[in-house]
Amino acid sequence: MGIKEIEHYAKEHHVPIMEQEGIQFLTKYIQEHEEICQVLEIGSAIGYSAIRMAQIRKTIHVTTIERDLERYQKAVENIQKMHFEEQITIHYGDAFDFTPDQTYDLIFIDAAKSQYIKFFEQFTPFLKPGGTVISDNLYFHGYTKQKERIESKNLRQLVQKIRNYITYLEQKEGFTTTIYEIGDGIGVTRKE
Ligand SMILES: C[S@@+](CC[C@H](N)C(=O)[O-])C[C@H]1O[C@@H](n2cnc3c(N)ncnc32)[C@H](O)[C@@H]1O
Repeated sequence: MGIKEIEHYAKEHHVPIMEQEGIQFLTKYIQEHEEICQVLEIGSAIGYSAIRMAQIRKTIHVTTIERDLERYQKAVENIQKMHFEEQITIHYGDAFDFTPDQTYDLIFIDAAKSQYIKFFEQFTPFLKPGGTVISDNLYFHGYTKQKERIESKNLRQLVQKIRNYITYLEQKEGFTTTIYEIGDGIGVTRKE
């Protein structure tokens, strides 16, 4: 059992895991910031990005939350097969029902795109000063940068919510955000 098998499973079963460029960015960021030990991830899917983060250093501990039962069960299986039970704690349920009992060096938001502002508000009180929030999919397959009108109403609303989140991040007091044109658009927000 290896990371390639998890990538293969995700492809076969249409599970949306982080794109290669994005995961490389995320892991490089963690490698370069040796102070990062405690990570909170919103949206585990089948445990791929949690495992990739835990593989970086033994001192990293990832707490991750997934609300889809089938994906959660697969994540538990993957974490066990790859022997990361001690470094990854996975919770089954909605992230909005989860109250952390600790603070984190990094919060990685990779769940329902329409809720990003709510996730940020709910979890940044548990981010240490100098800590980072990384948000994936800010370009949402290029749609958030698209100038032409998007035909589907649902898609239009979702794209608007992600645009609102970008504006929110840019204006949020006490935080500094840089958005990178990497993978599907990654936001790096530092808490002052
Ligand atoms: C893009 S996938 C996560 C991929 C994973 N981070 C990776 O790269 O391996 C997003 C996941 O977030 C989960 N999710 C969405 N909203 C959630 C919520 N409110 N609470 C918990 N999980 C949520 C979805 O079920 C989905 O499996």
